[in-house]
Amino acid sequence: MSVAKKEYKRVTVKSIQEMKERGEKISMLTAYDYTMAKIVDSAGTDVILVGDSASNVMAGHETTLPITLDQMIYHASSVIRGVDRALVVVDLPFGSYQSDPKEALRSAIRIMKESGGHAVKLEGGKEIKESIKRILNAGIPVMGHLGLTPQSIYKFGTYTVRAKEEEEAHQLITNAKALEKMGCFAIVLEKIPAKLAKQVAEELTIPVIGIGAGNGVDGQVLVVHDMLGMTHEFNPRFLRRYLHLYDEMTSAITQYVDDVKALDFPNENEMY
Ligand code: KIV
Repeated sequence: MSVAKKEYKRVTVKSIQEMKERGEKISMLTAYDYTMAKIVDSAGTDVILVGDSASNVMAGHETTLPITLDQMIYHASSVIRGVDRALVVVDLPFGSYQSDPKEALRSAIRIMKESGGHAVKLEGGKEIKESIKRILNAGIPVMGHLGLTPQSIYKFGTYTVRAKEEEEAHQLITNAKALEKMGCFAIVLEKIPAKLAKQVAEELTIPVIGIGAGNGVDGQVLVVHDMLGMTHEFNPRFLRRYLHLYDEMTSAITQYVDDVKALDFPNENEMY
């Protein structure tokens, strides 16, 4: 059963808390540039994540580790210029917050000041408690991220489903509760069993947004290039493709190349 949507002129951390309380699901997608952000925002997406997945989909790196703080600020400021309504959350990239809380705060402040983003997201639980607290004390909203945390990929070794075993599941619940207690306004749970994600969403009062975490959570997030089918090598079970843009764009561009070669483009009506 769907719940009536409330119209928000601007989505804030308070709006998404209200959505959870009303039982309205929260929609979240990534964007990394102005043009895509404008489309994602005007389609009514509640939260736009300037994810460090930009490292994969925009820069072609194998992991999210190489993207820098300067590059994240560049992506986030482009996104902000295209957004009128959505809450824009920006990932703190690998290496910009792990070494000490003061550095974490400096990185978060740079994101807020230089990009105009509305909140930051950090991967991890209790081990980054001091950094999260420091950022929150400066008045910057923080979104947590647990489960599959791609910045730790070399520690885990694979991108398989996390927290399938009891001990890891217990640890995840403890960390989720700790993030809520610290003052995070929401949490992303990535690639964990649906039953566990539902339990976390039920036990927490803040919104829990899932990717590969089933339908018992308070909202869903996907990488926009994946759901539009602009990427085609990445095929996890949780991914629903709403378009197949890789094929459609390839065929449009092939047609253009053929038209240029055949002197068919430009034609009489396309010249001055
Ligand atoms: O960087 C990203 O796109 C993310 C989502 C997968 C949640 O963190």
